[in-house]
Amino acid sequence: MADYYITTPIYYVNDKPHIGHAYTTTMADMLARWHRLLGDNVFFLTGTDEHGEKVQKAAEKHGKSPKEFVDSVVPQFIDAWKTFNITNDIFMRTTDLQHDKTVKEFIRRIYDSGDIYKGEYEGWYCVPDETFITELQLKEGRCPYCGRTVNKVKEESYFFRLGKYRQRLLDLYEKHPGFLSPKYRAMETINRVKEGLNDLSITRRTVKWGIEFKQDKDHVVYVWLDALVNYLSALRWPDGTVGRFWPADVHIVGKDIAWFHTVIWPALLMSAGVEPPKMVFSHGWWTVEGKKMGKSLGNAVDPIDIIRKYGVDPLRYYFAREMPFGEDGDFSESKLIARINGELVDDLGNLVYRSLTLAERFGGEIKGTPELDKGLDIERIKALMGNLDTFNAIEAVWERVRCSNRYINEKEAWKLRGEQLGNVIYNLLESIRIISILLSPFMPDTSERIRMQLGVEKQGIDQCRFGEFRGKVKKAGHLFEKVKE
Ligand code: MSP
Repeated sequence: MADYYITTPIYYVNDKPHIGHAYTTTMADMLARWHRLLGDNVFFLTGTDEHGEKVQKAAEKHGKSPKEFVDSVVPQFIDAWKTFNITNDIFMRTTDLQHDKTVKEFIRRIYDSGDIYKGEYEGWYCVPDETFITELQLKEGRCPYCGRTVNKVKEESYFFRLGKYRQRLLDLYEKHPGFLSPKYRAMETINRVKEGLNDLSITRRTVKWGIEFKQDKDHVVYVWLDALVNYLSALRWPDGTVGRFWPADVHIVGKDIAWFHTVIWPALLMSAGVEPPKMVFSHGWWTVEGKKMGKSLGNAVDPIDIIRKYGVDPLRYYFAREMPFGEDGDFSESKLIARINGELVDDLGNLVYRSLTLAERFGGEIKGTPELDKGLDIERIKALMGNLDTFNAIEAVWERVRCSNRYINEKEAWKLRGEQLGNVIYNLLESIRIISILLSPFMPDTSERIRMQLGVEKQGIDQCRFGEFRGKVKKAGHLFEKVKE
């Protein structure tokens, strides 16, 4: 049984969760569930990033103290993840005491390595991204990442000698090619690092809402340094369970924050004498109905609204099915509806309904010889999931669904009687049982509902092969309902 530590980014709490947050968290949940299915010992982290200027400003706008404000927003994230069936083992808050302790100890080590010096930061700052931006990086006077206006900052600050780690980072990328994932995004990072790295400002003097910088109490710790360390605080570093789960197996992040996780984070870890994580996987971005999503554009999608309309599993399915994990895609309700009607209702729902109807009506013995196991390649699905290729893995499961439906038609099951019918039903129920196991990371509720109708025990990956069918079938209506367009 292997240990497996997987994390999502911790989310800013200036506002309620949107579809982008839901996406990152759900994809990580699928991987966490998959590893549990394999029998791994999983530790799955998500949480909230609560300090910094952006949150401080949002609190002011609401007329609340920062702590009051974050305490009012955090439950919305916790509740959203319950609704989404997210199986995180910990919910990290950067306002937790343990986190404060870990950050201070982490900084002490970097300080003792001689990697922190006092200077003055003069440049630009993007508050929504909580990012320092140099004059050269500006794009028509705006943030090069999000296109919003930036503030001029000139203040005393402490710096981390990021530049010193250039070669060690390049060595890391070379020795551990999986560290920068997916591969097609790696070159961009490598080239930027090759160009050279500026030292990084790691404290703010004009911001009050943050962790105290112990070495100079007029400063608070820069929110990104504070936030990244959460992955260690969750393990109660440097004491706790760190040895078992560190280095983390994978940090799942959006491509917009890959730089912080693939350059700044490993350099900080090297300075503190801690091993870097094994992999940072950067996923793509959703546009919404073809447009960039944003609050100011008024098209931010509320994931809870979508779930109320269509249910949790259809949205989880859509996330995995609509865009290859890593690439960009477009979120659109009409495409979601098309998938619900075409794939969930017509393919999966129909298969289960038809097969269970045959099974319930059949009085004889459900047994036979495996026929529908042809093309069932669990090792291939394992390899795909091992590469975080959720897209092709779910496609492989869907191929099972489609070929099972074809089997009913080819056999003209409705015309059969006796042993021949028993054999077809046997093949269908075994196939559906295996499909329900393989679908459990993606659509946990649906998988469970299928399992209940089959009347079988909860099963793991080793049961994904044809054997004797030992269930007590009990049909319980359709799995999904058609949505009117
Ligand atoms: N607080 C930082 C992360 C600190 S981790 C140590 C942060 N938070 S965030 O609230 O802005 O959420 C970031 C996550 O949401 C990122 O992974 C980002 O890529 C994801 N998304 C935000 N909008 C998105 C889309 N439109 N599409 C897909 N994911 C997107 O950054």
